[in-house]
Amino acid sequence: MSDKKILLSGMQPSGKMHIGNYLGALRQFVELYPSYDSLFMIADYHALTSLRRADQLRANIMEVAKDYLAIGLDPEKVVIFQQSDVPEHAELTWIFNCLVTVPFLMQAHAFKDKQSKGLEANVGLFDYPMLMAADILIYGTDVVPVGQDQRQHVEYAREAASKFNLAFGPVFKEPAEYIMENVAIIPGIDGRKMSKSYGNTIPLFGTDEEIKTAVANIKTDSTPKGQPMDKDKDTVFALHRHFSQKDLPDLEKNYQEGSIGYQESKNLLAENILNMIRPLRDRRDAISDKKVIDILKTGGEKARERAEEKMRVVRKAVGVTL
Ligand code: ADP
Ligand code: TRP
Repeated sequence: MSDKKILLSGMQPSGKMHIGNYLGALRQFVELYPSYDSLFMIADYHALTSLRRADQLRANIMEVAKDYLAIGLDPEKVVIFQQSDVPEHAELTWIFNCLVTVPFLMQAHAFKDKQSKGLEANVGLFDYPMLMAADILIYGTDVVPVGQDQRQHVEYAREAASKFNLAFGPVFKEPAEYIMENVAIIPGIDGRKMSKSYGNTIPLFGTDEEIKTAVANIKTDSTPKGQPMDKDKDTVFALHRHFSQKDLPDLEKNYQEGSIGYQESKNLLAENILNMIRPLRDRRDAISDKKVIDILKTGGEKARERAEEKMRVVRKAVGVTL
């Protein structure tokens, strides 16, 4: 075991990754992992709170694993695993469930959102934060790199650790979130935050055609070519800021002078997005399903060994070990 601090993060296998996920989360994983003893999880049991189709879940798990590998997480250097391969996460969740109160969990954003929309939350969604707390705490995690939207979940994990320690003695380390603060919110093709749930995404690993079509569908105003365009109100320009750094000064000038039309600006954007994605996509295409299954099996074994060791301490602390 190394003396590096422990990093754990995860993604739900709930659909195809988009360029917002890449810039907002995945890319930072790759930058951070060499400085830590790192684990990257596929949160498949979390996805079950909203997915009811086994074939779909299976396909999504495979997708996330390939995404992790394609962006450059090296399975020789980090542990990549499925949450469901480590049943101790669910076991620990139960123990936390016996320590936290219903009103406490009712404060969670995901649950409150669902309720405010008049939708019925299943118990899994209600308990989502405790499964995530178990994911984090079982490995003695120091840092959890997540987006702003996940801050509350890491707070819940700290709370679970502290409640456990208070009741049964000092077993869990309180983790810190590593909020990727300086990460911009990437807008989707309708100008709102890019999100799977808004259907406004540019797929990270789409085909050339899919990416070109998504870019062509970015909503713009109807300024005709020849008129100055307001770069600060344009979603195409907002995306250029992330993909077209070297073209930015020219673009800015062209927008001001009206010497570029939206069509042209979009074509350049699609080309620049593709230039960034192609090498990753080629790497992804070369990964077979069999390879993924092998990597996840090894990763699952490594993670489970560590989780089992912690659970031995936990079971003893709570008093079920005779
Ligand atoms: P989605 O909203 O598409 O369902 P998730 O909630 O699964 O995305 O996001 C996983 C992570 O990807 C988030 O924690 C966040 O860090 C990042 N992310 C998602 N959408 C964006 C975006 N539009 N801009 C920047 N980062 C994003
Ligand atoms: N809730 C996270 C998300 O939707 C995914 C997740 C599950 C996670 N368990 C985790 C992230 C543990 C970090 C650590 O993005």
